[in-house]
Amino acid sequence: MGMPTLTIDGKLVEFTPGQTILEVAKANGINIPTLCHLKDTTPTGACRICLVEVKGARTLVASCAMPAGNGMEVKTDTETVHVSRRLNVELLLASGNHNCLTCEKNGSCKLQSLAYAYGITDIRFKGQTQQYPAETENPLIIRDFSRCILCGRCVQACNEIQVNRAIGYGYRGAKSKIVTTGDRPYQDSDCVFCGQCVEVCPVGALTEKKAVGLGRPWETAKVRTTCPYCGVGCQMDLHVKDGKVVKVTAADGQSNKERLCVKGRFGYDFIDSPERLTTPLIKGEDGRFQEASWDEALTLVAKKFKAIKKEHGADALAGLTSARATNEENYLFQKLFRAGVGTNNVDHCARL
Ligand code: FES
Repeated sequence: MGMPTLTIDGKLVEFTPGQTILEVAKANGINIPTLCHLKDTTPTGACRICLVEVKGARTLVASCAMPAGNGMEVKTDTETVHVSRRLNVELLLASGNHNCLTCEKNGSCKLQSLAYAYGITDIRFKGQTQQYPAETENPLIIRDFSRCILCGRCVQACNEIQVNRAIGYGYRGAKSKIVTTGDRPYQDSDCVFCGQCVEVCPVGALTEKKAVGLGRPWETAKVRTTCPYCGVGCQMDLHVKDGKVVKVTAADGQSNKERLCVKGRFGYDFIDSPERLTTPLIKGEDGRFQEASWDEALTLVAKKFKAIKKEHGADALAGLTSARATNEENYLFQKLFRAGVGTNNVDHCARL
């Protein structure tokens, strides 16, 4: 039996059973806008931006949540579809404080992009929405509930991607809010500050505190690199402005799939720390460290190594290397000890 097929915007296409309409559209080069959809998680169908027409269905359907069916006839680009999507964007814009001028996400906000795409220039619906005060206490993440559109991407990322299960939906109706257990601030909750919620937030509800005001998306260059903290090799993008790293976001690497931990995402202050060593230090006769050249430092180390080896044998020496070094550097290090010094006393901080 052949693959099942459906018609999408007049085109007959094959699909794999289990695929959603959204996935089938994407695989066939048809763009359907989304807000709440988060790759590799259970669809929530919360935002209704991905609505499409399906022949025979009584209402428009959320393509991110609707499984493709054999023989379906789907239309993604009709007047009805666009009127509904536009209305949903307008309702979301009316649901809180979406003043882009003062928003850190200006320029990378999905809601802003949709409003622009649909030519929305004003807030059509005025309404009193529940406003929770922003949570700014912790040093890493700002939670601005007035900008939250309750799309639930942060919840999906926390529960299904990172599997921390630190946040979920709380309260009801206009009072709905993304909450930790007991609606406590992040720092008093089960949150481990991996920042994956910030990574996936499509609007300005979750932002990295340290990056506020340091650069708009169009002012920063992205530099792909490997996280220096451990041996996993997570891929990340450094957001660089005027030679300084102002933010770090996850990239889609083999080992991390757009995820990072707290160290990789937030622990980049050391790069410009004034306490960072920039030159070797050698302890003088008076016990004080003095700056030295690399030649001086390496010559001294080699001299001391030779003296120890001569007096006590090569096994009196040992080398401990680091997961922060690359595989190639670690390879060279063990080679230096085995072939150069003559001992197998080599170990690594990530071995256990
Ligand atoms: Fe489908 Fe939000 S993307 S409902």
